[in-house]
Amino acid sequence: ALLGIDIGTSGCKALLIGTDGAVIAADTATYPLSQPHPGWTEQDPELWVTGARKAVAGALARAPGVEILCIGLSGQMHGLTPLDAGHRVLRPAILWNDQRNGPECAALTEAMGGVEGLLSLTNNRMLVGYTGGKILWMRNHEPDLFARMALMLNPKDYLRLRLTGEVASEVSDASGTGLFDVRARRWATGLIELAGIDPDILPPVFESQVVTGRVSARGAALFGLPEGVPVAGGGGDSVIQTIGSGVIAPGELQTTIGTAGILAAALDAPQENPDGRLQVFCNVAPNKWHCMGVSLNAGGAMSWFRETFCRGADGAALSFEAIVAEAAASPPGARGLLFLPYLNGERCPHPDTEARGAFVGLTARHGRGDVARALMEGVVHAFADMHALMRPMGIDGHIVKASGGGARAPLWRQMQADLFDCDVVTTEGAAEGAAFGAALVAGMAVGVWPDAGAAAARCRALTRESPEPGAVRLYARAHPIYRSLYPLLRDSFA
Ligand code: XUL
Repeated sequence: ALLGIDIGTSGCKALLIGTDGAVIAADTATYPLSQPHPGWTEQDPELWVTGARKAVAGALARAPGVEILCIGLSGQMHGLTPLDAGHRVLRPAILWNDQRNGPECAALTEAMGGVEGLLSLTNNRMLVGYTGGKILWMRNHEPDLFARMALMLNPKDYLRLRLTGEVASEVSDASGTGLFDVRARRWATGLIELAGIDPDILPPVFESQVVTGRVSARGAALFGLPEGVPVAGGGGDSVIQTIGSGVIAPGELQTTIGTAGILAAALDAPQENPDGRLQVFCNVAPNKWHCMGVSLNAGGAMSWFRETFCRGADGAALSFEAIVAEAAASPPGARGLLFLPYLNGERCPHPDTEARGAFVGLTARHGRGDVARALMEGVVHAFADMHALMRPMGIDGHIVKASGGGARAPLWRQMQADLFDCDVVTTEGAAEGAAFGAALVAGMAVGVWPDAGAAAARCRALTRESPEPGAVRLYARAHPIYRSLYPLLRDSFA
């Protein structure tokens, strides 16, 4: 069997799959996130270790006697785990959703000659979430700790250190530091030098499907795993879950409706990133790249609507299914109502923390179901809006592989089929999230699958929605109107 371990933001998942790709057993252990100041999010890396111990023990207990051929690691991207020369953790990890380092990112961008300068070095902006800006924040605000920092690791690579004793990262997580030359698949030494970061604090980087080490005697005792099992590079969660949804060939699109909405695709070349609006990273498959847009308010917008406007007489919020049923009773187009989902600012296609949400076209005949429908359609319009940025890269989108909690609703999948005008499928294993992709990459590392295409082929379609011509025509008329709204309303976002 192959073991995937995912260090998520809210918990760790361990997943065992067979060499046929079928899920054998899984377990999850949750842990908290601390917010010591507004906009700060931190986690004690020891929580990842105890979470992984529990989740691995739980999964193994459900599959007695199973032989583990290889372990694949995945995790929340961009997090900074600063370590001293003895590999001791210097402070709690600063996570991907932490907002504290805006000034450092802006100063670095300016020093590099603006967004264009950064794009020439890394093919990405330095987003507030990325690791590079967090290192610079520590230099400015915690100089004593910074002086003792001998190594920085992303979350899953800290788990690797505890599991194998090896210091290593791989190309997909390294891409998310903002310090990586994604085109050449190596550290962007010029940028690192200009930023004044000591290159020795950065781990060596391998391709994702390379074995970077083996479970050590200490790792074996700590995690209850056999000593000597190979550990593959693995990948950052949002990159590795794309192959875990079976998306690796040109033209396939992956959508994830979690709190955020992610649109992702694989690329055969490191295409130029227009104005840095997308995230163009190294894929977990060698010689492939990964392109994604993250829209911050997808399932999160639905949660807001549900908790704010959908409470029954007893005060309890209606179920997600009940709200979707109300939305389904409203016709495509929600009787002329459009929703912009920027409830919490936006990342893509508009990198604008001040962007705000809007319902446009409200009339007195609209009911709650119409509003729910417009909200769900707005999330899908946002996907199509991001896709417009990908089209010049040759990403046509002839099939959508949908995942995340939102993909459980057939209505939300049908809207995607109608807006993208192509079939939408859900695939086997994708509901397990990044841990499934991590297990696939582990299989690639030990030759269970000869290449990424063979691994992705394990993700067989479970459901399929096809476009309905009437709705396709209607959305084709509505989408340009949706796209015209942000530029029109931008000045009104106070
Ligand atoms: C990717 C990103 C998130 C985190 C969360 O750019 O910010 O997907 O990896 O897990």
